[in-house]
Amino acid sequence: MEHKWLGAGLLAMGVVGLCTLVAGPGGAERTVTAAVTVAAGDVVELPEAPRGGGMGVYGALGMRASARDFAGGAIGPETWSRLLWAACGVNRTDGRWTIPTALNRRDLRVYVLDAAGVWRYDPEAHALVCRAAGDWRAVSGAQPYVAEAAANLVYVAVPPEGKGRRGAREAWVRCAAFEAGCAAQGVALACASEGLKNVVRGSYPEAELRAVLGLAEDEIILMAQSVGP
Ligand SMILES: Cc1cc2nc3c(=O)[nH]c(=O)nc-3n(C[C@H](O)[C@H](O)[C@H](O)COP(=O)(O)O)c2cc1C
Repeated sequence: MEHKWLGAGLLAMGVVGLCTLVAGPGGAERTVTAAVTVAAGDVVELPEAPRGGGMGVYGALGMRASARDFAGGAIGPETWSRLLWAACGVNRTDGRWTIPTALNRRDLRVYVLDAAGVWRYDPEAHALVCRAAGDWRAVSGAQPYVAEAAANLVYVAVPPEGKGRRGAREAWVRCAAFEAGCAAQGVALACASEGLKNVVRGSYPEAELRAVLGLAEDEIILMAQSVGP
């Protein structure tokens, strides 16, 4: 059995955890992760996302499909960098994102629940900020496979200024839902390119997930997405 360092594993690279690639029976490879220790407030900088490479957009569209048979295992930092950049990373010098956002307000937040912790993606820093340590993946959905996915993304709408205006709430929630859809499709295409599985989910235990994410009362969970090998 061959053990090969991949570098820092999970999202907790630079903290403690390292993952190894293990050649299993028949030469099949699977990724395993060592125990990691993270704490709320830890910041994990992601490698810069490459602007080229990967599958062409039409090839990725041809491969996009929901899959729920997650095999376990982690996603490495280079891949996380690409997946999250596809979700809502900064792609221009003026700070705008890979997805369109209403009035360029960028009110969408993406959270990542993996085996190490709960993280908020910071697009400007291209980094993950730990909200809570621990494996909370199972809380992100009602279906058993969510605990087997390497991670579950959760898309959250944050209200903009002026939310008290008549009719404004419906408008910003509608816009944020559109933005979450764009982000989730970006992740789905990146998953296709990376050979990873993904499925978007509208089902999750609202109260428990809100508590784990530590959301403010006026923040709204829009959608979840399970990703992994
Ligand atoms: C708004 C929305 C909510 C969904 N919610 C769930 C869900 O809670 N659980 C799940 O397993 N799949 C969910 N799906 C995935 C759909 O079941 C899937 O997209 C559909 O069966 C079509 O399959 P395809 O994505 O492979 O084309 C959802 C999809 C959408 C667009």
